[in-house]
Amino acid sequence: MTADQLTAIQPASAVPPTSDLLSDVIAGLSSDPRTLPCKYFYDERGAALFQKICELPEYYVTRTEIDILDRNRAEIAAQIGPNIELIGLGTGAGTKTRILVEALEQPAVYIPVDISEKQLRKSAALFRKIFPKLEVLPVCADYLQPVVLPSPRHEAARNVVYFPGSTIGNFEPSEALEFLRRIANVAGRGGGLLIGVDLQKDQGVIEAAYNDSAGVTAQFNLNLLEHINREVGADFDLIQWRHRAIYNSEAGRIEMYLISTIDQTVHIGAREFRFRAGEKILTEHSYKHTPEGFIVLARQAGFDFVKLWTDDARLFGIFYFVMAK
Ligand code: TRP
Repeated sequence: MTADQLTAIQPASAVPPTSDLLSDVIAGLSSDPRTLPCKYFYDERGAALFQKICELPEYYVTRTEIDILDRNRAEIAAQIGPNIELIGLGTGAGTKTRILVEALEQPAVYIPVDISEKQLRKSAALFRKIFPKLEVLPVCADYLQPVVLPSPRHEAARNVVYFPGSTIGNFEPSEALEFLRRIANVAGRGGGLLIGVDLQKDQGVIEAAYNDSAGVTAQFNLNLLEHINREVGADFDLIQWRHRAIYNSEAGRIEMYLISTIDQTVHIGAREFRFRAGEKILTEHSYKHTPEGFIVLARQAGFDFVKLWTDDARLFGIFYFVMAK
């Protein structure tokens, strides 16, 4: 296998096929309230814009998670233990995973699973270079779908799933539970889960993080329409849409919207969708959890809580859980 080759997965596909995108978009826009599927944020430009979001002054999420990881790396590595198979879900450019892997004691295998092919290839090549003893088996896939993981050459002591970035917050609580159960399956007996979760906090801090003053989050959200235009020949006029993130305190989540600025009609395939001025499409929501609430959720999926690392302001939490042996 060449250095930048991706591990074959079943069904053999690198990116979700176009027909999925078309049917997903039509289903989302036909539902009430209207939605668009968030996984299509991450085309090449979307992945690059998300990297920029992570560096924004208002977006405390990434910075805080990295800081917690960095300060507690030795303790985290000690909890995880040696000779593991690390399965990274949506690890993107791999900045956090690199900090983790550097701290781990002789990790055996690293399987990053990510939807963004370019980032995956780049980060896999980098990991092979800096960790020559680590078996790196990248899988380009949508981890929301069942993914068959490759069989490594090395036999590891146990599996540890790493799920950073508070992506778990982008799931509805019931979906989050279902997904944690799938992770529990992947981790297996005696396996672990290291997961980054954004915590409940002042509403103003959260809204600022998702309505940044440089407008990068707006570009990221609008890029979803551009991606759809390109993939399925839709005719969203980007000028006629704007981004807004609104905190829903009852549900405990921030909601990302694209708002139509005028009455307009959009064509997608043979379909026509009418939007009124001010009508909103929900593109993503991001739940903020309490430590207690998240521990209960993970417990329901079969995980025993081991430890929570957080920052002084308790903005963000990195949780470690294990499955019974
Ligand atoms: N997991 C990230 C979060 O919930 C994803 C994210 C950050 C995001 N900013 C966004 C998704 C803006 C859509 C739009 O914080």
